Amino acid sequence: MADIKGIKTGDPELFQRAKKLSSKYNVLLLEPESSDTHINLDYPSVLCFQGMKLVNSFIKGKFYSRITKFQNESLLKKACAVNTAKPQKILDTTGGLGHDAFILALLGQKVTVVEKNAGLCILLEEALNELPDLPYFNDAVSNITIINSDSRNLLDSVRSFDVIYVDPMFNSNKRLKRTKQMEFLDLYLEDYDDPAIDFFKSDFKRLVIKKELRASASIKDSSAISFKGSSIRYDVYIREKNEF
Ligand SMILES: C[S@@+](CC[C@H](N)C(=O)[O-])C[C@H]1O[C@@H](n2cnc3c(N)ncnc32)[C@H](O)[C@@H]1O
Repeated sequence: MADIKGIKTGDPELFQRAKKLSSKYNVLLLEPESSDTHINLDYPSVLCFQGMKLVNSFIKGKFYSRITKFQNESLLKKACAVNTAKPQKILDTTGGLGHDAFILALLGQKVTVVEKNAGLCILLEEALNELPDLPYFNDAVSNITIINSDSRNLLDSVRSFDVIYVDPMFNSNKRLKRTKQMEFLDLYLEDYDDPAIDFFKSDFKRLVIKKELRASASIKDSSAISFKGSSIRYDVYIREKNEF
């Protein structure tokens, strides 16, 4: 899988942050003139890959409008059995840009986001970092933990989560309309990975798999309950009911 070579910034005030992120994610601190695939720390930070740019902003654009209506996410809420009184511990095994994870965090759930691409982890950190200092955003940020790893490394820990969430969607159907962010990620990530089957074989309590509405199921199992929207659906597998 492609990934960033390093991180750089042209802003002296962001240098310490760039240094911290380069050491946390084990990527190089690049010179400003480097043209390798990298994150440029800025306002906003940008992932630069083969002349293309990816920004992950939570305060403007399409995802911002989703954030403003986060309470309307009834499908996601049902699929993950969102509970405000007793927050669910959710393992997001395919973190990506962290959009679904952030909605779940805004809904008060505790989300561990696992993403194997260091560039995407840093973009997510940056998206969270640029959020306005408001109580509901601060609460959501405190509900999120980011781990840069193949999520299969957590297969032995599934019992400590109420919900295992898998969204392997980017490459599943090339004919469907995709956003510019999805097109970027298709090219940048190169290969397609779907850890759903590995988690299905694990000792999970509740497994939620996001799919395009008409895509075939990642797992053929008649016990699945599907929550269907206009373009996506969630296939949910339950091994143990929660107490609520
Ligand atoms: C469709 S995106 C997820 C989008 C995400 N749900 C969101 O709302 O932004 C899939 C992501 O999963 C990541 N991924 C795929 N397999 C993975 C694995 N085994 N471990 C960690 N990350 C994985 C890919 O690198 C990609 O960024």
